[in-house]
Amino acid sequence: MNTVSTSPASASDASQQTTTSHAELASHSKPDYVKVWDLPVRLIHWLIALCFTGAYLTAESESWRLLHVTLGYTMGGLIAFRVIWGVIGTRYARFSEFVRSPSAVFQYLRSLMTKSPEHFTGHNPAGAIAVLLLLGLGAAISVSGYALYNDLGGEWIEEVHELLANAMLAIVFIHIAAVLISSHLHKDNLPLAMITGKKRRIASAAIASTWRSVALVILLAVIAFWVWQWQQAPTAQQTQRSDQISAADQAKRKTDDD
Ligand code: HEM
Repeated sequence: MNTVSTSPASASDASQQTTTSHAELASHSKPDYVKVWDLPVRLIHWLIALCFTGAYLTAESESWRLLHVTLGYTMGGLIAFRVIWGVIGTRYARFSEFVRSPSAVFQYLRSLMTKSPEHFTGHNPAGAIAVLLLLGLGAAISVSGYALYNDLGGEWIEEVHELLANAMLAIVFIHIAAVLISSHLHKDNLPLAMITGKKRRIASAAIASTWRSVALVILLAVIAFWVWQWQQAPTAQQTQRSDQISAADQAKRKTDDD
């Protein structure tokens, strides 16, 4: 489970415990920086952030369409893998570890008003809601984007796609604000932990492996997909030709209308 143990217990004992206060954490003999986020979780996180930001910024431009679509598909693939990793991955990456009941979320939020807020090693119960929303919205954006790009629906798909992207942008802002606030409240540098994978905890809270090999496979798959998409990109001549054709089409339609 997603917690800090307060006794020099075994890893399995640690997994039975739910929360620990700052006072307990401080009284523990020797918390040290231990590995909490494996490499696939961190790599997927920053790639999703990159893909979403890039796709959002290129959404309106026709000339950046292929980049927009490539980033969108990449985000979809990364989320699909993250869902699988949420079942088979390391301790704090698992959904079973961080998805909590609504009452656990309220209890956590109430504890933030007290002197010893509940402290979690992985995602806290409120943060976990943002994680699920970000993954869910990201998946829905990728699917609706695919349908839109391949003309699989009516005009409403475009509206839905845009609405979902704006909803995700709002959650991203809330997510970043919440990360900064909880870093301050819990005296944990959470953004740094998402880079290094480490948090200051007792040794038994650590994960056994960072799964570099899995991260490497993800990275290579993303690069291979990007290279393949790049090769599909129309040449400048083809783009010019298709622009000329659509300009001629438009002109012809205009003359027919007149
Ligand atoms: C487009 C931007 C972003 C998106 C879509 C995004 C999405 C996500 C997702 C899906 C997770 C869950 C990770 C997992 O369990 O696999 C997460 C966690 C996290 N993100 Fe982001 N993120 C974004 C930007 C950022 C930025 C800019 C920061 C740094 C300030 C950040 C810091 C974190 C941290 C620290 C966590 C772990 C939170 C915890 O300890 O519970 N994220 N993010």
